[in-house]
Amino acid sequence: MKQQEFAGRRKELMEIAGNGSIIIQPSSQEHVRNRDVYYPYRPDSDFHFLTGFGEPLSVAVLIPGRPQGEFILFCREKDQDAEIWHGRRSGLEGACTFYGADDAFPIEDLDEILPGLLENKDRIYYTMGRYADFDQRVIGWLNHVTEMARAGVHAPDQFISLSHLVHEMRLIKSPAEIRVMRRAAAISSTAHSRAMKITKPGLFEYQVEAEIMHSFMDQGSRSPAYPSIVGAGRNSCILHYTENNEKLKNGDMLLIDAGAEVESYASDITRTFPVNGKFSRNQKIVYEIVLAAQLAAIAEVKPGNRWNQPHDAAVAVITEGLLDMGILKGSLQKLIQTEACRPYYMHKTGHWLGMDVHDVGDYKIADQWRVFEPGMVTTIEPGLYFSAFTKGLPKKWHNIGIRIEDDVLVTSSGCDVLSDAPKTVKEIEDLMRAVH
Ligand code: GLY
Ligand code: MN
Ligand code: MN
Repeated sequence: MKQQEFAGRRKELMEIAGNGSIIIQPSSQEHVRNRDVYYPYRPDSDFHFLTGFGEPLSVAVLIPGRPQGEFILFCREKDQDAEIWHGRRSGLEGACTFYGADDAFPIEDLDEILPGLLENKDRIYYTMGRYADFDQRVIGWLNHVTEMARAGVHAPDQFISLSHLVHEMRLIKSPAEIRVMRRAAAISSTAHSRAMKITKPGLFEYQVEAEIMHSFMDQGSRSPAYPSIVGAGRNSCILHYTENNEKLKNGDMLLIDAGAEVESYASDITRTFPVNGKFSRNQKIVYEIVLAAQLAAIAEVKPGNRWNQPHDAAVAVITEGLLDMGILKGSLQKLIQTEACRPYYMHKTGHWLGMDVHDVGDYKIADQWRVFEPGMVTTIEPGLYFSAFTKGLPKKWHNIGIRIEDDVLVTSSGCDVLSDAPKTVKEIEDLMRAVH
């Protein structure tokens, strides 16, 4: 993404905050995996949204109207020895040249410099509660400045939640963000198609996961946006199954929920298909209900409609399907009202998608479900899960778990489905027949 994109976001945020304010946004901490091995570093999404800077130990400070420059980046200095061992650093100069900082200081000097930047400001914009250690430091700096009141220094007396402002900005995606999200969805769609092509009885779930990971990386995505779910048979009925270590059996369905991350943007796609490439009669009955629910829900994603409408549409189709199957009995309206489908469909139909897989942004405003606006991206992911443990469920449905999930962009006239892996029974069977 180009530097202007990040600069534009900072400008927009600073215009909202106004002169007299200081905005403080640290990046995330590094996490130990074991002893001296760290998990791959992933910057804080809000920090990344405002800077595009991907190195650990960094803090962005924005001061609207500061004559010497409004964007200050604290980061690691260049260090030849450390860089030979651990990799390149931008350094202070690079922070200015490549990331548009007006001033850059060593991260070690944060405690020394920050109190001075708080002097004579009215408002601090900061997200409390995300990084406990950092919260303590912010309070310490504030106390330090407050103590200087006798010397005529005015300390900020308003503490405002930064996350709310940034999250509202993140909710509406720019054309540049949409391009990246399209790419993430396309990479994942290709990976799902590949998984369908190699799947056959006798493979282990992790071998299918390996194919997905290979496909993500081969296409330039270095990480999934969340741990991939690859569950066959009974495992398809566990919503967040990630063991991925059982053998695929002839006659089972395989549920794969996997999405690539590209430039810190997520995709989130689920496909479910028969391990042997051919739906049984019962699998097909369940699949067609979930697919119809998904299409009905997608049709409700358009500007002016409210957040709950896709879910309500999916629930109506699923409840009617369960009634037709004889699993539910009674009047359709009543069954919908009482959420009778919940033992078999126990999650919501979607969530915002963006830099975080379960992305930020309010779902309700003033107690009303939010109205869709162009630039929002949501998943649409209804499912039906017939676990062997579900009371009173005839055995013939046991261990069929189906979810179908796509990434859907709200456009000015309706919506655009960003993901496009095979989805109908015919598309899936045709693809799998062609290779088996
Ligand atoms: N992959 C997590 C979800 O679908 O929400
Ligand atoms: Mn998912
Ligand atoms: Mn999802």
